[in-house]
Amino acid sequence: MEKTSIHGMWSSRLAFILAATGSAVGLGNIWRFPYLASDNGGGAFVLVYLACIFVVGLPVLIAEILLGRHGRRSPINTLLDLTRETGAAKAWAGIGWIGIIAGVLILSFYSVVGGWTLHYAWLYLMQLFGGAPISDPGATFSALLADPVELSLWHAAFMLVTVGVVALGVEKGLERAVSFLMPALFLMLLLLVGYGATTGYLGQAAAFLFQPDWSKVSGGVFVAALGQAFFTLSLGMCTMMTYGAYLPKNVSIPKTGAVVAVADTGVALLAGLAIFPIVIAFGIDPAGGGPGLIFTSLPLAFNAMSMGVVYGLLFFGLLFVAAWTSSISLLEPATAYMVERGRTSRRKAALTMAGVCWLLGLASVLSLNLLSHVRLLDRDIMGLIELVANELMLPLGGLLIALFTGWALKESILREQLKGMSPVLFTLWRWLVRVIAPLLVLAVLLNVLL
Ligand code: PHE
Repeated sequence: MEKTSIHGMWSSRLAFILAATGSAVGLGNIWRFPYLASDNGGGAFVLVYLACIFVVGLPVLIAEILLGRHGRRSPINTLLDLTRETGAAKAWAGIGWIGIIAGVLILSFYSVVGGWTLHYAWLYLMQLFGGAPISDPGATFSALLADPVELSLWHAAFMLVTVGVVALGVEKGLERAVSFLMPALFLMLLLLVGYGATTGYLGQAAAFLFQPDWSKVSGGVFVAALGQAFFTLSLGMCTMMTYGAYLPKNVSIPKTGAVVAVADTGVALLAGLAIFPIVIAFGIDPAGGGPGLIFTSLPLAFNAMSMGVVYGLLFFGLLFVAAWTSSISLLEPATAYMVERGRTSRRKAALTMAGVCWLLGLASVLSLNLLSHVRLLDRDIMGLIELVANELMLPLGGLLIALFTGWALKESILREQLKGMSPVLFTLWRWLVRVIAPLLVLAVLLNVLL
């Protein structure tokens, strides 16, 4: 019997593609990917990353969407239903708990960084109307990080726009938001790549991004690349499972998943091609930029170029929109679960979960200033939350999702959800989720733990 979702449904395949791409494209693509590439040897990192996306990421993405569409409920309940249907151990539903907890942890610091993007977009907007320029970008960034009140307020503003969308529901909130935000995002990105091309340094940027230097490939590069593949595709925390629960029945999951993976990768590469020409053109070394690459190096370049304020606004507007459509997808799984538990409306559930994430985010805020001396395993509090969520919980969630789909689920469910996939691709996909992806993820997890 075909199940229906009580949360609503995407009205079309395109709506799902926009929402899932909106989830995937975020700070991971525009903020994290360029500095990871710059820190890990450019082209060599990019090649390992591409391999991780298509060998591990895409198969797990397909698995998550199919689990969601079969169960049509929030991750924990979907998994519980599936274990009942297939006679598997109930403990598999733990995947849903890992997902929801990881989502809350990630949203807590994601929203803090989302607040920075909002703050910078605001600074450039004000400059258009005669506000003070960012004359010393390094000092501006340090001053922001040093001020807990200012950080908490921008973090709150970011959380408010996020909850505003989620509270309105799947069709009236999520779908409506992504259908104008995603086209705006692509337009802003293309304008910035266009500008990058006029600097005359596009070739040099492409060489930096695509010319592999194999001497730089180490275990660490592999760990960083696989971790980034999970983070950027929003995998391992049941976001894509939740979005899959709202996917209409006749849409092809493999094809749609491939579109999302390609779009996400395309945006990361284009973001590199927008950022590095500007960085190189203004004499800044693209290698080893670190997390501050975007917030300190780029404003230097915007100061030096004509119409820099407009490009600054475009760039931070782009970053904000990308972060926004991702944070929506971080809040949705926990909200859907609370609604299913009953006695709460979607509005109250979304507000409660956002409140929890905001409060937890204060720990990250304080770790940037008053509590910056608190360190464990060589990391501050924000770094620790990131470590636990991104580097441990996402790969662990992904590993379990692959194993559950590959080994525990009834084959008839797989065949029904992947109807239309060619037999060769189906077999290939099955071996990837059964053996290859789990082994690779396990290797990375051990590398992080040991
Ligand atoms: N994919 C998002 C990004 O690249 C982050 C994210 C992770 C969103 C996990 C949802 C779930 O920024």
